[in-house]
Amino acid sequence: MANVAVIGAQWGDEGKGKVVDWLASRADIVVRFQGGHNAGHTLVVGDTTYKLSLLPSGVVRGKLGIIGNGVVLDPDALFSEIEKVRAQGLDVGPHNLRIAENTPLILPLHPALDRAREAARGEDKIGTTGRGIGPAYEDKVGRRSIRVCDLAEPETLSAKLDELLLHHNSLLRGLGSPEFEKQPLLDKLLALAPRLLPYAEAVWETLDAARVAGKRVLFEGAQAVMLDVDHGTYPYVTSSNTVAGNAAAGAGVGPGAIGTVLGIAKAYATRVGSGPFPSELFDDVGRMLGEKGREFGTVTGRPRRCGWFDAAMVRQAVKIGGVNGLVLTKLDVLDGLKELKICVGYKVGGVETRRLPAGMRAQAAAEPIFEVMQGWSGSTFGARSYAELPAEAVKYVRRIEELVEAPVMMLSTSPDRDDTIALRDPFAG
Ligand code: IMP
Repeated sequence: MANVAVIGAQWGDEGKGKVVDWLASRADIVVRFQGGHNAGHTLVVGDTTYKLSLLPSGVVRGKLGIIGNGVVLDPDALFSEIEKVRAQGLDVGPHNLRIAENTPLILPLHPALDRAREAARGEDKIGTTGRGIGPAYEDKVGRRSIRVCDLAEPETLSAKLDELLLHHNSLLRGLGSPEFEKQPLLDKLLALAPRLLPYAEAVWETLDAARVAGKRVLFEGAQAVMLDVDHGTYPYVTSSNTVAGNAAAGAGVGPGAIGTVLGIAKAYATRVGSGPFPSELFDDVGRMLGEKGREFGTVTGRPRRCGWFDAAMVRQAVKIGGVNGLVLTKLDVLDGLKELKICVGYKVGGVETRRLPAGMRAQAAAEPIFEVMQGWSGSTFGARSYAELPAEAVKYVRRIEELVEAPVMMLSTSPDRDDTIALRDPFAG
């Protein structure tokens, strides 16, 4: 099956947008399978920059975009994003965007609870995007969600809102936050129905028909393996499974349909929000990476924490995420550094390990073990072949391949979608 899944191999913001855009040109369908408008994918096409949060990146390439049931969908965010990209000249409507009818909705009470909880955590806050992602997923597994298909059933909506409000208002009251009334929410949902329902369908059937017709599907992951709710640096994670395995459940296809899995990793490391980051830098090099790499969150605008490439962590993400090949981005940000470090493992309680431990305290205490490499003086910016790279840069890439135990299948050398060294077409399997 010539399908491809793209996932982040660090803590998000690895430059997935550009890679997905590049791959979308070779795909027929692009599917989002988890997350919501907490994601931020930046695509640079000529002079135009598209900042997508919820829309599958394929819309920029005129491909069919699918929002799978594994996503949590904020309808206000969806329609404002559609308006924004339409104003930039893109054609988006029910003819090229389909939404799984069983997708849970994010309602205004979800971000309210998200923010109230974060405020109550104080110093220990997760650093969420405040978009209601966690509470919306809680309602899904709590069997309380209002889903897209419910918009077609006004009686169901009314009964579900009663249940939802009983739960949420109790929590909001406990947290000292304003409660929600039923009628405005019901009115909002009833008004939403004729706008959203034309996009809704059983996307599992669309994807099955695509499989039968031999179409190429690209599964577009959001966030990253180290933010996975099971495998990441819990509790400093997002609330969905970000690994490629979830592309199947989150889209409604069998596991064999996922195909080649690409893990995207920056040539260094960044993280937004709280949580452990063993290779984090607090010096001038860290500040340089942040400035040169323009490390500010697409969604929140928050500055990202920066550090050295953590090969032990990416190796872990490769194994857990089922990654067949890496895409390394932003190598050019390291241009000019005399010396580079790669984290190859950790010292935890005096014991050396290649594995990031699972416990919160152990993770916080993990001290990085670094390997030092020589930097390069030439430029890698905009390179389109290995031959254009300085020898030391090639050595750095090769060492990463060894340490993470996966081949580098693509190198991205600038935000421009054509500045890509593709060593293998992932759709070729
Ligand atoms: P939430 O997904 O809003 O609940 O946030 C949980 C954690 O995931 C926080 O540390 C966020 O900063 C992080 N996060 C969520 N989405 C992204 C993303 O697209 N890129 C990077 N970090 C993210």
